[in-house]
Amino acid sequence: MEKIANGVWRLRYGAPEAHTPVSLRKSSVLQEQLDKLEGAATPPFTEDQIEIKSTPRGLHIELPLEADEHIYGFGLQLHRVDHTGRKKVIRVNSDPVADTGDSHAPVPFYVSTAGYGVFVDTARYATFYCGTNQRKGASAGKRSEQKEIGTSEIELYGYQATEGDRTVVVDIPAAQGIDVYLFGGPELRHAVQRYNLFSGGGALPPMWGLGMWYRAYSAATKEDVMRLADGFRTDRMPVDVFGFEPGWQTKAYSCSFVWDEGRFPGHEEMLRELYGKNYRVNLWEHLFVHPTSPMYEKLLPHSGDYEVWEGLVPDLAVAEAKEVFAKHHLTEFVEKGIAGFKLDECDSSDYVHSNWSFPDVARFPSGMDGEQMHNQIGTLYQEAIEAPFEAAGRRTLSQVRASGALAAPFPFVLYSDLYDHKVFIRGVVNGGFSGLLWSPEVRQAESPEDLIRRIQTAVFSPMALLNCWRIPNPPWKQVDREKNVKGEFLDNYEEIQSICRSLFETRMAFIPYLYTSYAKYRIEGLPPFRAIVMDYPDDPNTFGIEDAYMMGESLLIAPLTAGETERSVYLPKGRWHCFWTGEAYEGGQSYLMSPGLERIPVFVKDGTLLPLAAPLQHVADDAVFDITVKAFGDSPAACSLYEDDGTSFSYRDGGFGWVRIELDGGGLKVTRSGGFTGHRYNIIG
Ligand code: GAL
Repeated sequence: MEKIANGVWRLRYGAPEAHTPVSLRKSSVLQEQLDKLEGAATPPFTEDQIEIKSTPRGLHIELPLEADEHIYGFGLQLHRVDHTGRKKVIRVNSDPVADTGDSHAPVPFYVSTAGYGVFVDTARYATFYCGTNQRKGASAGKRSEQKEIGTSEIELYGYQATEGDRTVVVDIPAAQGIDVYLFGGPELRHAVQRYNLFSGGGALPPMWGLGMWYRAYSAATKEDVMRLADGFRTDRMPVDVFGFEPGWQTKAYSCSFVWDEGRFPGHEEMLRELYGKNYRVNLWEHLFVHPTSPMYEKLLPHSGDYEVWEGLVPDLAVAEAKEVFAKHHLTEFVEKGIAGFKLDECDSSDYVHSNWSFPDVARFPSGMDGEQMHNQIGTLYQEAIEAPFEAAGRRTLSQVRASGALAAPFPFVLYSDLYDHKVFIRGVVNGGFSGLLWSPEVRQAESPEDLIRRIQTAVFSPMALLNCWRIPNPPWKQVDREKNVKGEFLDNYEEIQSICRSLFETRMAFIPYLYTSYAKYRIEGLPPFRAIVMDYPDDPNTFGIEDAYMMGESLLIAPLTAGETERSVYLPKGRWHCFWTGEAYEGGQSYLMSPGLERIPVFVKDGTLLPLAAPLQHVADDAVFDITVKAFGDSPAACSLYEDDGTSFSYRDGGFGWVRIELDGGGLKVTRSGGFTGHRYNIIG
């Protein structure tokens, strides 16, 4: 076992495959930041506690798992949080409808409440059996303890493997060698931080990326777009990012990557108008390249041997292909002011549309096969699209539907065509275990109540997105899709709109706090949104929570879904305060909350000084936020806000600073430190 960074060890077996997440990545391990984390002087396991052997199938790995351990991770798992006792297949999939492991972003990484993490460096569809089975002989004698014939499966088929003799079994097809990385604690959250810093640190979005996002109707014309864009400003609905769906291109399935001058005549003029109204423009696309695309001929020699939708599948692991992609995006879009992209369809459909991707036996010029490409295509694609923004010296925050291992540095947020609200909330809880960001996007809704509850979750999530690609008018005017298309509005739409406006403004108020939480993700690897167990690993009541999560250091968010007028919220030990009313709650127990439709349960940790901004309509490059701090508890600790120019990469060269705010007698003391010379925050009270 080799120590490769502070608290990170690698165990190598045989000769690893040429294409793995580690061999394909471009970011480097953040050694210095890892050095700053304390603890974890020795690896969580000794070499002889880990069994690795070759089999005719590939590789068989076996790792210890104690009786009281709970394990989390495996990427964006939408159907379960605690994977103890479950089998998970690490396979990218666009229709992750069941708890199989299939995911838009599967990751062969897990963390344990015992305070360590394990990353198996493979692009294969590896299967993890998380304490599901015992070795032959382990149950001898224990069966006799079984009492009577039961009527449930558990009773009938014996005990669950909780007897201290269980392991994690990993089955990796095809590979004959492997690197297994171990991440030390001391606590679960430190193992996650180490994994993220090993990945290259968390993404720092541009500040505007934390505002509201609105994606317009697929069939929108230039006039429709301008009507929406003008409408948001007139109605004072804060929106930062305006998204174009497939209709902007001449060909969308597969993609031409060329503006459709029929639907958008003089599109450059339209873009200028949108920029003038302070919108950032985001364009939908996927990576299958239509024969009419200007990139087609150049990509032909660097593509896989199967087409998708009559288009090429470029091999973005090949430098030439990546270069063609990056250059087209730079000159045609990024240099013309486009702020980001929505990278769709890269996650392979098996259950709904089996021909919407390439087969696992496909071959690519880099030497990868279809299986490896499926699991890597999301991160390769993100890297290719981030390159032009790097070249232009401007940050992006973009969207992607497939991701995977070591993705923390990518400024991309995942989304899905699934739509169950509770599943979407679970996504926010889970993404943080594996270096992923997830947006519980809002589309149309079943009812105004459904719309408002969904917007509440979106507002308290990594990306506050309304993806209205199927409705021409904003959902607050009409939630029902058919009526929306016909232009029939709700009688009380102004009332609904006003509730939505106030929620959008809440999001805008939290931007400085959120931006600081993202800065911690970049610097310390600490996810801005995370499961409660990550902050309270010693409290078993948090182990199974999948409907509430932490936002930054101080806030606990517990969304409600349509049909619920109340819900139970477990507050970990310590004192908490309702964000809206200030009412105090003693932690270590659950409370039934019924805040009414306009509010989502949000709790603030005792001792918090919470910085809130006067809501802006949008975050311009030179925006300055007027900040009021709200004190929760008798003696709140100082808080710090991260400050930089919000758009460039100058923070990498020290161009950032901290604004420390503390209570000082009856007033406030504000101290600035660091290398940023400007002022983004005006502390007003
Ligand atoms: C889907 C995507 C949706 C929307 C749609 C447009 O694949 O998930 O959000 O963009 O394509 O055709």
